[in-house]
Amino acid sequence: MAFKRVSLIVAVAENGVIGKDNDLIWYLPRDLKYFKDTTAGHTVIMGRKNWDSIPLKYRPLKGRDNVVITRDQSFQADGAIVVHSLNEALEIAKKAGDEEPFIIGGGQIYKIALEQNLIDRMHITRVHEEFDGNTFFPQFDENKWKLVSKEDHAPDHRHEYSFSFCIWDKIDDSQ
Ligand SMILES: NC(=O)c1ccc[n+]([C@@H]2O[C@H](COP(=O)([O-])OP(=O)(O)OC[C@H]3O[C@@H](n4cnc5c(N)ncnc54)[C@H](OP(=O)(O)O)[C@@H]3O)[C@@H](O)[C@H]2O)c1
Repeated sequence: MAFKRVSLIVAVAENGVIGKDNDLIWYLPRDLKYFKDTTAGHTVIMGRKNWDSIPLKYRPLKGRDNVVITRDQSFQADGAIVVHSLNEALEIAKKAGDEEPFIIGGGQIYKIALEQNLIDRMHITRVHEEFDGNTFFPQFDENKWKLVSKEDHAPDHRHEYSFSFCIWDKIDDSQ
């Protein structure tokens, strides 16, 4: 079975930052719920550092097939499938019959996925603030993507920053 689409999901600050010292920076519970709801029932594909950054009690991410990419042939991840390339990870999702696998980062894995032109849809939560960090989401050419939805959220007592849920679909230039 072919995929309906391959998606990625990420939360990105205004200056491109997605993480610092192998951790997330902001706490936005509404975004965590969006992540959980969007990826529920699907294969989630992540880099080994992202896997390491998830607190033990939350991993594997439940209700989803977890796939971890590493170059380390002896790496083991309890409750997850370990592979050695993004293509191998997508093969696992295909064999499992998932029609929409999600690439969930971090920075290195997003970069490979975009460079290899593997992504059809991006769920980008734009956090409207600049942060000091050392992991970044790659720049992408907005002319090659169409913003199909945008939902703005103002700060409130649980959310220190404003943010927007954006969905970008790749423009099909094959015709
Ligand atoms: N804001 C967000 O939405 C979001 C989402 C996800 C993650 N993050 C943040 O991102 C950071 C982690 O990202 P990161 O860029 O440091 O690491 P990463 O992309 O999670 O993982 C990098 C690791 O993936 C493996 N890898 C990379 N390229 C590979 C290849 N071509 N073949 C096989 N394996 C390969 C390597 O594992 P080995 O070293 O084991 O070989 C590499 O060290 C954390 O701060 C995390 O909190 C943020």
